[in-house]
Amino acid sequence: MTHRVAIRPSGAELEVRGDEDVFTAARRLGYRWPTVCGGKGTCRTCFVEVDEGAENCSPVGPLEREGIQALRRPVDGRTRLACQLRVAGPVTVTKRGVRRPVQE
Ligand code: FES
Repeated sequence: MTHRVAIRPSGAELEVRGDEDVFTAARRLGYRWPTVCGGKGTCRTCFVEVDEGAENCSPVGPLEREGIQALRRPVDGRTRLACQLRVAGPVTVTKRGVRRPVQE
């Protein structure tokens, strides 16, 4: 079972599995996604703005909460860390710097 996560402005569409976060799915599918820590939840470089489907997003855990607060954003479900974000339905996010796979 996968869920579609659309990325603006690149127009990328990821099929994210139920057992992986958005960042991991993007990497598995060959996308480049801004990161420093490689998905450990500590660099905050992977953050996204959720445009649609916030109700399909996993709850914010303690590590992610800390990261969002360090970004000086409200923890209101709009700013999320892609490496901590799991989805249970379609979601649209804005993230600049996500590149499509070379072969497509
Ligand atoms: S990749 Fe570093 S916090 Fe998500």
